[in-house]
Amino acid sequence: MSITSVAPNTDSLQVTWDDGHISHFHYIWLRDNCPCADCRHPQVGERTLDPFTIPLDIVPEEVKLDETKALNIRWLGDGHQSIYDSIWLRQHTYEPEEKAARRYRHTLWDTSSIGENFPEVTYNSTMADDMGLLTWLRLLRQYGFAIMHGVPTEPGQVAKVAECISYLRPSNFGTIFDVVSKPDPNSIAYTSLRLNAHTDLVSRETQPGVQFLHCLVFGATGGESLLVDGFAVAEELRQQHPDDFDLLTSTPVRFRYQDRETDINCKSPMIRLDSDGEYFEVRYSTALLAPLDIAPELVKPFYKAYHNFTALLRDPKFELCFRLEPGDLMAFDNRRVLHGRAEFNPQSGPRHLQGCYVDTDDFLSRIRVLERQLVNRA
Ligand code: OGA
Ligand code: ZN
Ligand code: ZN
Repeated sequence: MSITSVAPNTDSLQVTWDDGHISHFHYIWLRDNCPCADCRHPQVGERTLDPFTIPLDIVPEEVKLDETKALNIRWLGDGHQSIYDSIWLRQHTYEPEEKAARRYRHTLWDTSSIGENFPEVTYNSTMADDMGLLTWLRLLRQYGFAIMHGVPTEPGQVAKVAECISYLRPSNFGTIFDVVSKPDPNSIAYTSLRLNAHTDLVSRETQPGVQFLHCLVFGATGGESLLVDGFAVAEELRQQHPDDFDLLTSTPVRFRYQDRETDINCKSPMIRLDSDGEYFEVRYSTALLAPLDIAPELVKPFYKAYHNFTALLRDPKFELCFRLEPGDLMAFDNRRVLHGRAEFNPQSGPRHLQGCYVDTDDFLSRIRVLERQLVNRA
């Protein structure tokens, strides 16, 4: 992508690209983003320029394209020289349509569409090399989950696999948690009861990003896993019941977890959109929703919205059910894809999963760095 011409306006520069696109960059933005070694640390890359020293009405004295089509600006006042790479500039355009085109698009799924593209990998292919690892991580980003088969059924293995992405995020349940039916449970996850589709650690301000559940032993009857694409269901709610959708995206409700040592609560809408109106996260747990303390006139409308959302989450169109086998490790985006399990009979045989978490920042960072090394270089 290269620049064909530039035209100065009063407070911004108009840049025309060889695909016909026209961008505008404000002068203050350009000066703030000067990449020279005086303005950015040449090794670290962080900004060393103090943005508060830039006059708000800064303008160029001279603007030109050099022989490599890089943008050269000499600034009026101190005569500072800035040179901007055209590819860098194009990657940082800030018109809404350009930003929207650059956005990562998740593939939303229901049980029929996921059948054709079921995201599964093997342990051996994932561990073989960085490309194998990236393949797994990209599936996980795209569909919000991926099943890995053939993971050695040794305790602690879940952490070894997750640590190929990044360091683990501990919680009050430990860094690695054992999902077994316990005599003295501090979560219904540690009973043999059904777990409705939910996201984990809903009562924390930041829900863990990627969750891993590794099946070590599974002789019990029942206990099938379920996964639901929360973004796909939210989108269906938006289509079918727009008022309910608006309520669930705009009404913070409290979630609370407590046991002998812990008492954690926070408020959040069940469906969160980001500042561009795109899906950001789903936060849902019938077990840990605290008594509603929202405006009295919203209580009944909220329950209606919650019911309609729940009905869609449990609709067979969206609820993917399968049985984990020993050696299967399911990884999922805990802020998008809800998980749960059917009730199982602990008398019929053992069931032991191990789980852990990695935060979204670290997961996405790992993908970006692998792509930098393996894909962008090609
Ligand atoms: C959990 C959980 C699912 C299962 O531990 O968070 O949801 O299959 N477990 O036991
Ligand atoms: Zn500079
Ligand atoms: Zn869970």
